[in-house]
Amino acid sequence: MTESAIPEHLTVERTRPVRTPDGFTPPSPSFVARPPLDQRQVVMAYLGVQAEDPVAELPPEALAGDAAPRHVDRALVPSDDPGRAPGDAVVVAYWDDPEAFDHWLATHRRAWLDGPGGRWLEVIRPRVERYETITGRRSRPEGVAHLAQGYSDQVLEHAYWGSMRDRMPASQDEDLDDPGHLEVERDGDVVRVRPTGSVCLIRSGQDWSDTAGDERERYLTDIEPRLREGMDFLHEEGPDVGCWSNRYLTVLDDDGAPVERTFGLGWWRTMADLERWSESHPSHLAIFDSFVKLVAEQRGTTIRLYHEVSVAHPDECLFEYARCHDRTGLLRAL
Ligand code: HEM
Repeated sequence: MTESAIPEHLTVERTRPVRTPDGFTPPSPSFVARPPLDQRQVVMAYLGVQAEDPVAELPPEALAGDAAPRHVDRALVPSDDPGRAPGDAVVVAYWDDPEAFDHWLATHRRAWLDGPGGRWLEVIRPRVERYETITGRRSRPEGVAHLAQGYSDQVLEHAYWGSMRDRMPASQDEDLDDPGHLEVERDGDVVRVRPTGSVCLIRSGQDWSDTAGDERERYLTDIEPRLREGMDFLHEEGPDVGCWSNRYLTVLDDDGAPVERTFGLGWWRTMADLERWSESHPSHLAIFDSFVKLVAEQRGTTIRLYHEVSVAHPDECLFEYARCHDRTGLLRAL
């Protein structure tokens, strides 16, 4: 059964066009996470630390107890400068209750920003109509899918350019692109960056832990190097194509050791900029082509891909950097 990526309870009369080709049948199945009926808004918070031993600084106690997030991942961004070891350790936390998050922030924000080393906070709270997440597999949810009540059946809106926008409920009747610029405000040692328009966030993940033999070899020698090039391009030259910040993170296990899962994390000026890059830039097309070729040759894949994309209004964002180097997050684009 193929169904729409937009759940029934978020379906409204469409006033804006879709790009689904006439009579389209996707070549392979993909699934979207279904939010519970009472979910209104979610919070996605990235907390980063720059220190001698950044992983040791990640805050286990702040993420438990009252107002704790519903799901947490830990990850590491390797340093892009050999003279500046060892990169940023990051906690990714998800709430489905914005009030619980407000309570958490009021309790922990100051202690987090005042902790040793450089500290940063990047947060958005998109309404349920303004995020979407898709995966090739329904087992082992990732990221915001941990807040879902389950998965759809195979969806129609994927495997063509523009399908990301078509999956997002708000695209039925809203223009999601609201290009703005970044404003800066200083408060002691905290630099606060405020986008003047809506911003688009993508977390695009890869899990090759199930691969073996030829497929594993191909992932590691053909696909991953291209992915790394794409991520490097966006980190170095992103602002020229509308990407304000891009990181390529490796997920850590509970002991802080890297696992065979990575994700690209990009803050974009608009979804239109992200679409333009994914659809036309040689760096994403190279990643895309090497993956599609592998799937065709092997008649399937055990590489697990997912992505989540959100668009948030300026008042649904918070970007704060305390004592961070000037290539950190949105500071990079100032
Ligand atoms: C879409 C491959 C990493 C951005 C796609 C699609 C494939 C693909 C096959 C079409 C999916 C569908 O609609 O069914 C890959 C592979 C990756 C990778 C194999 C890594 C191994 C990334 C990263 C980003 C990214 C890191 C950005 C941070 C996008 C976007 C789309 C897309 C925005 C949706 C385009 C649209 O629907 O308009 N990618 N990708 N991809 N990819 Fe990637």
